[in-house]
Amino acid sequence: MSLFVTFEGPEGSGKSTQARYLKEYLQNAGYPAILTREPGGTPISDAVRRLVLDGQWTSMEPTTETLLFAAARAQLVGEVIMPYLNLGGIVVCDRYADSTYAYQGYGLGRNLTELREITRFATGGLQPDLTIYLDLPVDEGLSRKQRQRDETRELNQLALPLPHLPPPQPSQSEHWNRLDAREVAYHERVRNGYLEMIAADPDRWQVLDARVDREVLTTQIIAAIQPALATIKPL
Ligand code: TYD
Repeated sequence: MSLFVTFEGPEGSGKSTQARYLKEYLQNAGYPAILTREPGGTPISDAVRRLVLDGQWTSMEPTTETLLFAAARAQLVGEVIMPYLNLGGIVVCDRYADSTYAYQGYGLGRNLTELREITRFATGGLQPDLTIYLDLPVDEGLSRKQRQRDETRELNQLALPLPHLPPPQPSQSEHWNRLDAREVAYHERVRNGYLEMIAADPDRWQVLDARVDREVLTTQIIAAIQPALATIKPL
């Protein structure tokens, strides 16, 4: 048996770090496990990632954005995720299709039924066995992310502009405040979307509070995955 675990959450929830810790825990415990992320995870998907996240494309249509995420996902599923699951391994993925439903669906207002059809076409219907949702109030997540971005910028290592985030505020002009407010509303819709999806399918999701200490959260995630691990043979 294989296991497909995804991480979801709003901006700044720390899921990339936790996904890495989980992969390390699994490998140290002797399980065949890999970590990947969306958008990305293959050379083609990484190229799509650069395109879809590039801040210069301010006029990108929501439909274009949706299809680019789906294209990156199709390549990742075909090249990495399905082959590894077929070997009986554990795939940990930092974001997956639920991000499309949350961000392009609830956030940008794309039709959810159509998004599910596009996703089925892109993934062949592959769904996660378990999804760990790290929850965080939107304002806290955005300020965490903003802080991280400022620190990264100070280190001059910012590889990619981030979409849907307010730019750093050069002044406190009304323009920036208005934009900020709109962006926060978008992220509120995304978070509420996640909460709605969780309520509709509670068995697949494990919801954890991202505000606890990093080590505590790792322990909780490891505990949450134990029942699913029962079906996996260690190496
Ligand atoms: P990233 O820098 O990886 O952010 P995070 O650490 O929060 O995952 O950027 C990924 C961004 O892409 C993030 O804002 C969520 C967004 N996204 C979508 O809008 N739709 C999708 O289907 C996926 C996979 C990501």
